[in-house]
Formats: sequence, C-alpha cells, structure tokens
Amino acid sequence: MLKGKHIILGISGGIAAYKSASLVRLFVKAGAEVQVIITPNGKEFITPLTLSTLSGKPVISEFFTANTGQWNSHVDLGLWADAMVIAPATASTIAKMANGVADNMLITTYLSAKSQVFVAPSMDLDMMRHPSTTRNIELLRSYGNIIIEPAEGELASHLIGKGRMEEPENILKAVDSYFEKSLSLKGRKVLITAGPTFEKIDPVRFIGNYSSGKMGYAIADEAAARGAEVTLVSGPVAIKPDNASVRVVNVESASEMLDACKKYFPESDIAIMTAAVADYAPAHPLDHKIKREKTDFDTLELVKNPDIAATLGAMKSDGQILVGFALETDNELANATEKLERKNLDMIVLNSLRDKGAGFRMDTNKISICRRDGSCVAYDLKPKKLVAVDIIDAVSSL
Ligand code: C5P
Repeated sequence: MLKGKHIILGISGGIAAYKSASLVRLFVKAGAEVQVIITPNGKEFITPLTLSTLSGKPVISEFFTANTGQWNSHVDLGLWADAMVIAPATASTIAKMANGVADNMLITTYLSAKSQVFVAPSMDLDMMRHPSTTRNIELLRSYGNIIIEPAEGELASHLIGKGRMEEPENILKAVDSYFEKSLSLKGRKVLITAGPTFEKIDPVRFIGNYSSGKMGYAIADEAAARGAEVTLVSGPVAIKPDNASVRVVNVESASEMLDACKKYFPESDIAIMTAAVADYAPAHPLDHKIKREKTDFDTLELVKNPDIAATLGAMKSDGQILVGFALETDNELANATEKLERKNLDMIVLNSLRDKGAGFRMDTNKISICRRDGSCVAYDLKPKKLVAVDIIDAVSSL
C-alpha cells in the first residue's frame, strides 16, 4: 500500500528520535518516498546526515538554506505529502500543533498539510499524564489527526509507564492500514442527503429547521476519502465539502430533494439519509409577498411532505444499502428500530437530543448504530468528523 506514496516524516526533539532512522528505512523499503523535516531540537538527538542517507533526500530543518537563500516551501511540502507522520512528537511539538504555534518548519508544514496526519507521542509518563498534554492530544484528535498511542514500558528516565514511542514497525502498520482503508469504498457510488429543507410560504418566507448539514457533509468527505464516488443532495446550508471530488446537488424543498434522490438512487450502491427533511410544506405557496396589513391570511394550510428515505426503501433492490438517521427526544431505541423496519433501512443512526453535545448545529455528536438483526452499538461523544468515520466503518462492514 505504501509503494509510491509521499511521506513527510516530522522528527522533534525526543530521545525516541533514534528510532526514526529505522522508520525511514522501513518506509523506503516499502516503496515510499520520504521527506524528513526535523526540528532544531531534533537535530540534538539524531543527525540529519543519518536521515538524509537513509531517505535519499536532504533533510529539511530551516525555512531557508543560509548559504544559498533557497526557500523551503511548507505549502508545497504540504501539498506533496500523501501522509505526514510526526514521530517522535514531543509534548512541546504537540502543544504547538494543537495551538498553531508556527515557529519552525515542522509546524508550518503541519498547518499546511492537506493529507492525513499521524502523531506518535513520546515523552516521560508524568508529561504524558499532564492535563495540558492530554488536552492537546484531544485537540489533535478533534482535528482528525490519528494518534498512534505510546506504549507502556521502561522509559529513558527509567520510570515505568506510558510514554514510549510506538515501535517503528507498528507506526508503519498504522500508516499502511490507513492507505488500505482509504480504498475500501473504491468504485462504490454513494448518495447522501444533508441539511434542512426549506418549504416556501411566499417568495420571502419558508418553513425550515436548524440543521447545519455538518454531519452529512462529514460523511460525504469520509466516503470520498475512501475512494467512493459521492453525490451529496444538499438542502440550503452555509458549508461546502472539504473533498473536491464530492458532487453537490443543491436543492431547496423536500420534493426537489426527492426528485434528485430518485434520479441518483438507482445507480447508487449505498444511500445515507442525513437530511432533516421538513415534515410539512405549505399547500398553496404564494408567488407574491403576503402583506402584514392583509388580514385575511391567518391560517397556513399544510400538506405532508414525501418521506424520501421510505420512498428509496421501497425502490431498493438487492445489494443496495440504505441508511437512515433518527433524531429522538424520548423512547429513542424503540422509535429508531420502528423506523428501521417501516422505511426498509439496513441501518439507522440514532442521536438523542437528550445527550449533551449531540444534534443540530453542534460540532460533536453522540450516536448509536442499530441494524436489522436488532443489534445496537453506542459510541462516545466525538467530533462529527470522527462520528463520520464510525458510520462509514459500520456501512463498509455491511
Ligand atoms: O421519520 P423521521 O423524520 O424521524 O426519519 C428520519 C430519517 O428519515 C432520516 O434519515 C431522514 O433523512 C429521513 N427522512 C426523509 N424524508 C422525510 C423525513 C425523513 O428522507 N420526509
């Protein structure tokens, strides 16, 4: 999986830097191209000469080369990389990454990197346990970085505990399995609905809801990152997918969303319905603005909107996977499993409005995933980007 991949290996100033030489060797042996970026302190622990000999490329440490004035572009490096691995990542480098303190080449490149970032912490056990380190590592996780947990064992200080950088073989495995997973939906077509729908009352007013679209957009990005061809049918939202390969079909109302879904569903392998579709629409939307002074308008007649998920459930053929969402306030599990059956879904993602940090407009979510066999798995509260990883993992397992 690593053949031909461009890897940036960031080395900061910890004793485990001696292991980074083996890591370079392993990446190169696996067919990857490695560009080492080392912090000024890193050079105290391992020489650039060793690393450049093993990687076959000059090691980068400074913003520019003093004698020639040649500029090292962190932006170009960030675009070149298919993955960035920071091993060892010291407490100080982790803190700088978490807070954007861009005072060396490694951090500026980290901030510019578009690729997946892996962080292999290495420090003494009390530093590892300190609330500031714990918080900074959580921040990195919330940015979508993959933390390669340090191992337990004897540390350079002779203390015994957690803080030892993971062995190079295991770091290589983590990066390799990321690339393997990144192809898990290759060739699959995925349809996703997201955001609210707006149901027109007159040219300036509508019935809508607070859905931000964040969950559906995160799922679209995650599916695209795994090689899927994604069509995202989106109600009106203020966000864009991060992944440029996602095809966005903008719609406004539930009936427009239904039309788009009916068009793309037959060719889809997977459909994930995250949209908060308005349940009702005005029966007679007006083409002129309703005037306040006009007294004969005091009742809004509504008609029920189509159930898009249920319509696709009825159209579904063998081999297609349909996933729904349920946002509940009470009897959560019973309501979710009832929807699973009624809409002919293969899986339903339940979020309860009773859970703090879950639901509309938040950046985090807390979900349970229920399947047709009656099993339900509850997940921890996480950033929506990581919730998307859990959802796509679960869908892939089907
Ligand atoms: O019935 P309820 O609205 O709770 O169901 C939620 C699930 O059904 C979500 O997956 C939502 O996207 C989908 N849905 C739909 N069309 C509707 C209502 C809900 O696709 N009109």
